[in-house]
Amino acid sequence: MNHVLYLKEYDGKWIESVVDLALDIKKHPSKYTETLKHKTLAMIFQKTSTRTRLSFETGMTKLGGHAIYIDWRTTQLAMGGVQDEAKVISSYDDAIMVRPLKHATLVEMVKGSKVPVINGLCEKYHPCQALADVMTIKEKLGKLKGVKVVYTGIGNNVSNSLSYACVTTGADFTLSVPEVDPDSIDEEKMKKVRSHKNYHENPKLEEAVKGADVIYTDTWVNMEFFSDPKFASEKERREKAFLPYQLNKKLMEIAGPQAHSMHDMPAHIGYEIDEFGLRGPRSLAFTQAENRMWAQMALLIKLIGEK
Ligand code: CP
Repeated sequence: MNHVLYLKEYDGKWIESVVDLALDIKKHPSKYTETLKHKTLAMIFQKTSTRTRLSFETGMTKLGGHAIYIDWRTTQLAMGGVQDEAKVISSYDDAIMVRPLKHATLVEMVKGSKVPVINGLCEKYHPCQALADVMTIKEKLGKLKGVKVVYTGIGNNVSNSLSYACVTTGADFTLSVPEVDPDSIDEEKMKKVRSHKNYHENPKLEEAVKGADVIYTDTWVNMEFFSDPKFASEKERREKAFLPYQLNKKLMEIAGPQAHSMHDMPAHIGYEIDEFGLRGPRSLAFTQAENRMWAQMALLIKLIGEK
């Protein structure tokens, strides 16, 4: 069964084949209008979403299929047990996309499901985002091999998946962060990425970004904690500690005129990114958001399209 929990289930060649298919779908959408005819995707959310929900749902419609939005709290997943409920859902639908609070929920779903389970973001990985990101880089720069990507802010679920997608497709990835989100740490699975020749760590941000083609950042505080009063003092601490790692106009100037800025959104202007970084002429953030749809359409075709 082809699940997508980490992205590490797949090699760089497979990831780039998804990217190439996504670029073709974006260019020639009319070729694919019946590719997933009569197929259904169950989308289960334990957390909020704009991009993931709408891009999957719209993507399924564009491929001739149907997506079903399910708020976790309205299901029997907690009451019936995740494994058994996943088995039942997989008897109706061709794939299940889940945005859980905890990665462990995905692992349980995989045990029960007879169809592919796709991670729509957990605390450790965001594989669908990484597919859209490498698609966006290839679309803009025409290649992945040799492209220099620097990730600033906080090491987290997004940098875990992005670093893997970059290094295995030939891009050069540097993590330039003062800290890593403790919830995102997955020592065993990330060991292989960190030992890859294309992977680097350099906390000296101004040194790291020189000559970068892409500077990427993400929120310093995950969505489930953003308005949580119990997380308020940690949020305040991070806002001070991470400010020197903001993706801003000055950093883009240090990097050079070839540099593009990326952010997976939602973004917080004045915190991890400034106005120039998010909305300036060299920002790819809004293209990334659009490309979530094309990349996931390609992913769904690979997973549940007819062979
Ligand atoms: N980037 C991302 O996953 O966006 P949403 O939280 O809106 O789905």
